[in-house]
Amino acid sequence: MATPSYTTHAGMVDILPGDVEKWQVLEALIRDIARTFHFREIRTPILEPTGLIARGVGGTTDIVSKELFAFDRGEDAYVLRPEGTASAVRAYIQHSLHQRGGSQKVFYIGPMFRAERPQKGRQRQFHQFGAEILGSPDPLADAEIIAFMATLYQKLGITNTTLRLNSVGDPASREAYKAALRTYFAPNANLLSDISQKRLETNPMRILDSKEPEDQVLIEGAPVITNYLSEDSAKHLRQVQKHLDRLGIEYVDDPRLVRGLDYYTRTAFELTSTDLGGQDALGGGGRYDLLVEELGGPATPAVGFAAGIERLLIACQALNIRLGEEPRLDVYLVTYGDEARKWAFRHLKPLRDAGLSAAMDLSARSMKAQMKEADRENTRWTLIVGDEELQTGLFTLRDMEHSTEEKLAFPDILLRLVMPRP
Ligand code: HAM
Repeated sequence: MATPSYTTHAGMVDILPGDVEKWQVLEALIRDIARTFHFREIRTPILEPTGLIARGVGGTTDIVSKELFAFDRGEDAYVLRPEGTASAVRAYIQHSLHQRGGSQKVFYIGPMFRAERPQKGRQRQFHQFGAEILGSPDPLADAEIIAFMATLYQKLGITNTTLRLNSVGDPASREAYKAALRTYFAPNANLLSDISQKRLETNPMRILDSKEPEDQVLIEGAPVITNYLSEDSAKHLRQVQKHLDRLGIEYVDDPRLVRGLDYYTRTAFELTSTDLGGQDALGGGGRYDLLVEELGGPATPAVGFAAGIERLLIACQALNIRLGEEPRLDVYLVTYGDEARKWAFRHLKPLRDAGLSAAMDLSARSMKAQMKEADRENTRWTLIVGDEELQTGLFTLRDMEHSTEEKLAFPDILLRLVMPRP
């Protein structure tokens, strides 16, 4: 086959028929779980103001410093959104959603964009589903968010997962902790990887997130944030743990868990899977009590998570979890001759109006080619339409599953197809 002139950019992936159906099953499940948790869907634009993302996600993060797809057009600076939280917060502020009263529970499903180096489980356009609770400082909200995330994996039967839980504290405890990390790493800074040496200046907590082999020994001996948490933050974490215990949701405490986005305060969590390889995070999130105010809104505590749909699909595949059936065609009209084609084209409508999927050949191919297509499309019934059938008004209806045939007039065919014999 000739090399095509145009293909997708690296890290941008087509989702073709055959796979799309799995996505639809997943999306339907996500929406149904959201319904049972009473989260409402929010849909925001894919293009956002660059300033929103830079400020929201944080200037020192990888996402903002090197992974944004951004461009200017006239006066405006656009960015393809790299995540959904900043957008949800922008919408919350822009439309004064706090005035609706109580806390707002929203969820979203959609494409996100990060110019990362593509590999298995890491794309430049990928899809997240996520949820946010805006307006509650209570540890119950943290547990509700984690329960929402955990329920999907439970319902799908995705095992081999670990929920890691930590608190990144409030700004004061975090500053004290960052200072302790600088003091700890500084004498051996030359042993750290290049990227970690840079992070020692910009954000030493991200060193804990490093996967570079040369960093691991030093990381193991690093101070843990637990010893720097304020009493309030420590208490909040204990309460989240208790709520999770009551729900029977298993977790491991990981005092070295840090997240790649700047907005977190207190609770941080990540769900990892051993079925994913290098990119092992199925999902993650945490509390971001200061972000709404930071972006110009009223002081609003909030907590949320997001999870990657591609990674969910990889985990399902690794565990042989089937997502739905291949769709099948109910009836294929096999035609012979011009009159038959006209008749068949007209009669697709009553079949479709009755809720059946119905198709015919659209390019005057031979009957043999049509029968082959019917087979390929996993067709339940074929209806043979030729000159003789048009004259007698009796058509051959073939049951492809049981290899039986009968001759029927059209109204009876419709009845037979809508109410097949047991
Ligand atoms: P995040 O950890 O950056 O958090 O992303 C969440 C999930 O999105 C990851 O665990 C992973 O499954 C998926 N993901 C991220 N990048 C890629 C990629 N390049 N290719 C494939 N999948 C990817 C957030 O985005 C936060 N907004 C979560 C949050 C919501 N925190 C509070 N509320």
